[in-house]
Order: sequence, then C-alpha cells, then structure tokens
Amino acid sequence: MDPTENEGRRDFLKKACAACIGGAVMIPPIAAGVAVLLDPIRKKGAAGDFVQVGFLSALPDDGTPRKFTVLTTREDAWNKMTNVPVGAVYLRRVAPDKVQALNVVCPHAGCFVDFMPDRSSYLCPCHDSTFAIDGKINDRKSPASRGMDELETQIRNGNELWVKFQNFLAGAPEKIPA
Ligand code: FES
Repeated sequence: MDPTENEGRRDFLKKACAACIGGAVMIPPIAAGVAVLLDPIRKKGAAGDFVQVGFLSALPDDGTPRKFTVLTTREDAWNKMTNVPVGAVYLRRVAPDKVQALNVVCPHAGCFVDFMPDRSSYLCPCHDSTFAIDGKINDRKSPASRGMDELETQIRNGNELWVKFQNFLAGAPEKIPA
C-alpha cells in the first residue's frame, strides 16, 4: 500500500475522532442550558403557588372585604428577587375561621375592580360591571361574562392568610389560567 495513502487515512480518522469527542463534550452544557430556559418548574414564585398575603386578625368580623397586595419571591437559575408585587386580592371572612379570596382583576378586560362599601358590592370603573360581595355577577347587563375569580385560601398557624394566587384570561366565560 502506498504509505501516503495510509498517512491520509490516519489523518482522516484522527480528525473524525476529534470532531466526535468535541461534539459529545458540548452536548451536556447545551442540554442543561436548554432545560433551564424551557423548564418553568425551575422557577420559584410562579403563578399557582400559595403566598402569604396577611393575617386573619386584620379582617373585620362583619365580612367587609379588605384588599391585600400579593408579594412573592421570584427566583430562577440566575436571579432571586423578594417582595415582587404580582397582583392583589380582596379577602373577607365568611365564617370565624373561613375566608373568601377574590382576584381584584376584572374578568371582562382586566381592569382593577373597586369595593363599594356603601353598596356592599364591587364595581369595575372601566365598563361598569358590578359584582356581589361574593364575587358573582350582580347585573344582567354586565359586560363581564363570569364572576370575579375566586382563589383557594388556607389559614396556617391560626392566623396566617395564604392564597393560591393565579390570574385568569380576561374575556372568557370560564376561568382559564393565564
Ligand atoms: S374591564 Fe371591567 S367591566 Fe370591562
């Protein structure tokens, strides 16, 4: 066999091996980067988590709602931010140790709903949707096609109010997580 032919074959094999090893070495970091970018489970403080919003003792006994800002910690692979406002809720006592939570966002088009103490109901200033104190639609001509979005609550350690905070798509007749 021609020695130059042998030399050329060896050179080709060396280059092919180097390319394979180089490619294999790059796979784990690329895969890890893609996983971090695409995997929302790695992010803490995401929608749908329980968040402490206040204390049961801050709620009036007569069932009048109080508004609480929802603050959370946002954390991903690179950053951690504490006390980030992500929304607000109305909370009211429906029993001595039971609380109802309503997202303040109007289900019609996303404005913030106001509580009207003189009418014991909610009014959205944008297009005049009105809601009863329990969040149900109060007006047959309401532009909102569903009531205010109720959220799951928990009372922990006797006095801590926790809410499973979530926004829902505006304009839909049923609750669709946003
Ligand atoms: S956004 Fe509330 S009534 Fe339209």
